Amino acid sequence: MKVAIGSDHGGHELKRTIIDHFTSKKISFIDVGIHNKWESADYPLYAAYVAEEISTNRAEKGILVCGTGIGMSIAANKFKGIRATLVHDVFSAKATREHNDSNILCMGQRVIGEEVALMIVDMWLSTEFEGGRHQKRIDLISKYES
Ligand code: RB5
Repeated sequence: MKVAIGSDHGGHELKRTIIDHFTSKKISFIDVGIHNKWESADYPLYAAYVAEEISTNRAEKGILVCGTGIGMSIAANKFKGIRATLVHDVFSAKATREHNDSNILCMGQRVIGEEVALMIVDMWLSTEFEGGRHQKRIDLISKYES
């Protein structure tokens, strides 16, 4: 599995931490930027870059980090087929994979600590979508998109 990951300046440090975690766990990733914390960046652009990696099947899932995670989730959810979920606890990380088939995880660097963020990432990546009654609800969301 390949994960696309992006941030603005408000999420760059946590993005680096997650990338180090991916490297140590041999998880493949595509880093769409930003590549330094000094440049001020517009978060919708990085949400779009990650959404595009998923839409074109270059990545199966995505992670977006900004200051709060809120801007990234609003922007990413504008793209067809994207189910971006703002998560700051491990329970929701599990539930949003099982029930919502979330394909982008959004987090806020100014909201949570690194250890919790990595626990969320691990839970989110390792939890499967349950399908069944939840598929019908995902289908309804897809219908509203078209
Ligand atoms: C940048 O200052 C901040 O607005 C951004 O990282 C994010 O929190 C937006 O939702």
